[in-house]
Amino acid sequence: MPNTGQGASAHDWWRTAAIYEVYVRSFADGNGDGIGDLAGVRARLPYLAELGIDAIWFAPWYPSPMADAGYDVADYRAIEPLFGSLAEAEKLIAEAHALGIRIIIDIVPNHGSDQQEWFVAALAAPAGSAERARYHFRPGRGPAGELPPNDWPAMFGGPAWSRAPGSGGGPDGASVGGPAEWYLHLFSPGQPDFNWAHPDVRAEFASVLRFWFDRGVDGFRIDSAGLLAKDPALADLGPARDGLDPDLPPRASAGPGRAALDSPAAHPFIDRDEVHGIYRDWRRIAASYSTDRVLIGEIWLPDHERLARYLRPDELHSVFNFDFLCCAWEAPALREVIDATLDSHARVGATPTWVLSNHDVVRHVTRYGRAETAFSMSDRRIGAPSDLQLGTRRARAAALLTFSLPGGVYLYQGEELGLEEVQDLPEELLQDPTWERSGHTERGRDGCRVPLPWTTSGPSLGFGTAAPWLPQPQAWSQLSVEAQEGERDSMLTLYRSALELRRSLPALGAGSRLDVRWLDLGDDVVAFSREPGFTLVLNVGGEPVQLPPGEVLLASGPLTDGRLPADAAAWLATG
Ligand code: NOJ
Ligand code: CA
Repeated sequence: MPNTGQGASAHDWWRTAAIYEVYVRSFADGNGDGIGDLAGVRARLPYLAELGIDAIWFAPWYPSPMADAGYDVADYRAIEPLFGSLAEAEKLIAEAHALGIRIIIDIVPNHGSDQQEWFVAALAAPAGSAERARYHFRPGRGPAGELPPNDWPAMFGGPAWSRAPGSGGGPDGASVGGPAEWYLHLFSPGQPDFNWAHPDVRAEFASVLRFWFDRGVDGFRIDSAGLLAKDPALADLGPARDGLDPDLPPRASAGPGRAALDSPAAHPFIDRDEVHGIYRDWRRIAASYSTDRVLIGEIWLPDHERLARYLRPDELHSVFNFDFLCCAWEAPALREVIDATLDSHARVGATPTWVLSNHDVVRHVTRYGRAETAFSMSDRRIGAPSDLQLGTRRARAAALLTFSLPGGVYLYQGEELGLEEVQDLPEELLQDPTWERSGHTERGRDGCRVPLPWTTSGPSLGFGTAAPWLPQPQAWSQLSVEAQEGERDSMLTLYRSALELRRSLPALGAGSRLDVRWLDLGDDVVAFSREPGFTLVLNVGGEPVQLPPGEVLLASGPLTDGRLPADAAAWLATG
């Protein structure tokens, strides 16, 4: 790989940062109601500092009816009362900063909540009103407008349209002047999509960004960042529905063709060219504060070149590398995704990111223990058998791979404990809208959102004083922070050691370059060196591999006679 010479300095901290996702509801419960909250996070900030992370990314912490776990935001300038208050968020930001931890928050611009002020006003207003123009309201098809305006599917199942209760204007919201309209929601009906062609929407989000930047947040993770711009004609997708986006529901990705891939800009709602203007505006806002405020896009696009367009110097700072997350545990596939990532990012002068898990995907211990290790959002294979010991060995090795690649890394809470996906949650407790919207065929994402175990005993293994909102497996007692702390071979110890070394090694930490020189140690081995003097060897195959000369700095498992077993990785000081 060419070295593009971008070392990180204080103001581009994000280029090499280790960013830890906190899913507030499941991190730590400070007030004993079984639900995680900001008080819980504040109390655990020292834990995060000791883990060695550079920043926290908070999944949405805004007031929300929780139609989609907070990704349905009712008020972008406040904190969900279950989680705490704005004053508490401000304290948390200050306390984290004092520990050297930056704060990134989620922003959800594609859609709001159906209980947000604007949408409530839109429902009460008649068809054609200014209030409705901020969303996508349309008359239905069919003689009485009884069919959705087009064939777009919703992410969580069913059509992407719901019929408004009434066209408004009459008493109690009753319809006047024609049949009730429909509104667009690419996700659940509780998440109406904003109309980004409307100046009010642009102005509102510009103001929300400033609101939080003024309160000291260091950046935003932009939810569904590739979906904001819509074809003004809202044209049908037609039969070639096999989308660009693994974020789409099975229905959407089960179509016959992949025509959309040939002309991605023409897709009616994924990755349209108009979306880039929004992020140029946002970049100007971020830069008006300082160069260290960052914008991170959540964009699921298999086309590396299209994805890199979001990373042009006047747009987003970085995007999640979902191709890496989805990649099978196979050496050629891993090498290929790493190469493609480095190439496409180098071309726009951007820095890659490496991510294994988040609150939407099956935890990687479980994925890597399955026969099929690649991940697809449209087929989560919940319930597929998994060898958790194998998955854990691979997860340890994957952490060393991830932390040694050039760029930023994302961790999802609990991966440092080696938590697995909980696949047998009682059906009556499932909260993910996918469960209802799929007609109880898809269990959804709750299994990666189970509250963290902090101690070996207690009603919620130290998560709080009450029973947690989702039950933890009893075996998690042995995966708790308390059980792993100080244990030489624990996942937590591996993460702490690796993150500490990553910071201190000149080849990996701040100031490191985007260099990767591949080493050929056999088809089943992923191995590369970085300057100065660092080598990673990951054995994905069956036979033990002889390590090259050098001092072993860290290994994910025991070595025998300088040989690395299968499903293990080692860091070496070389040269
Ligand atoms: C991506 C988020 O990560 C996911 O949790 C959410 O359901 C969708 N976007 C919709 O906001
Ligand atoms: Ca609580």
